[in-house]
Amino acid sequence: MSETVDLVISCGTVVSPDASYPASVAIKNGLIHAIGAAEAMPPSREILDATGLHVLPGAIDVHVHFRDPGYPQKEDFASGTAAAAFGGVTTVFDMPNTLPTVGTPEALADKHLIAAAKAYVDYGLYAVLGEDSIQHVGALIDGGIIGFKLYMGNTFGRIPSPSTGAMLEAFEVVAPTGKRISLHAETNSVMERREQRLRAAGRTEAIAHLDARPAVVAIEAVARAAILSEWTGARIHVLHISSAAELRPLAEAKARGVDITGETCPHYLLLSEKDYQKFGGVIRVNPPVREAANQLPLWTALLDGTIDIIATDHAPHAPDEKTRADIWTVDCGFPGVETQMPLMLTEINRGRATIHDYVRWSAE
Ligand code: NCD
Ligand code: ZN
Repeated sequence: MSETVDLVISCGTVVSPDASYPASVAIKNGLIHAIGAAEAMPPSREILDATGLHVLPGAIDVHVHFRDPGYPQKEDFASGTAAAAFGGVTTVFDMPNTLPTVGTPEALADKHLIAAAKAYVDYGLYAVLGEDSIQHVGALIDGGIIGFKLYMGNTFGRIPSPSTGAMLEAFEVVAPTGKRISLHAETNSVMERREQRLRAAGRTEAIAHLDARPAVVAIEAVARAAILSEWTGARIHVLHISSAAELRPLAEAKARGVDITGETCPHYLLLSEKDYQKFGGVIRVNPPVREAANQLPLWTALLDGTIDIIATDHAPHAPDEKTRADIWTVDCGFPGVETQMPLMLTEINRGRATIHDYVRWSAE
């Protein structure tokens, strides 16, 4: 007699990165206990009939901003992880641009307490890697982080971007630890000068945000980060890839054997410059939603493995923070953790890629 489990999801089609097959899934203590034929399942306290349905692994969203502590009007760890659960996301990696910034072991310990008390799904926490936190690398790793986040460009939270010199030093310190460094790869000095010029010219409409951050800021940042990674051996991840042009330095670095991965987000695959008029300030996000010509190359890069991961950069703000008339005063980012899977599966259903591709991008 086999032991009783908590739940059997019975008679569905289980989908993995390589195959789909009819099977049932037994779950015990929150873990998969067995996958097999329905008649081989152990006795269960609860049975969920999945006849006619696909059973996918929970998605891992490696890029969310749950705002806790510091910005309860935007989100907290309970609302963020609840949204994740409703969206089929069972693991999230939370970004460090909270208040205080997660750049010290103390701030990290506090955030662990908050997350542990409120989370509905599994999580990992990032720490920020900047000029002020290089000294804390060891203690942050001991404190239990999933990886580091390095802001090459300014965004919400105004975390100063390190100089190239500090970045190299940071990479040298992190490389031997094996921890991955996730990069907001937009070059700050280029964006600051362009934004100043646009503001001086009186531009305040939504599309001015795109004009301030042309794809060259991402190309330059990805190429520079790849060079530093190659030099130091630090493992890196390029967050929120928005343009076709930055795929070239990414693919070239991969071909040279650099330990580099990349992610894109549904808004870069599905929205374009044509949507700025419609959404106004709500569409403001870093990096910006770009020209429609970028969409197909991003899909192709997912299919050929140049881009590894679908994440969301879930970055909620309050309605009044997103609807100000002057684009430069609108907070950057919007939610996504709850809508990623339905949006992507809709595209899969339209024949953009296979459901196995989706499982590979979202969960493997
Ligand atoms: C993010 C946020 O609001 O925290 N905003 C955004 O536009 N993506 C920060 C970030 O990921 O850059
Ligand atoms: Zn970012």
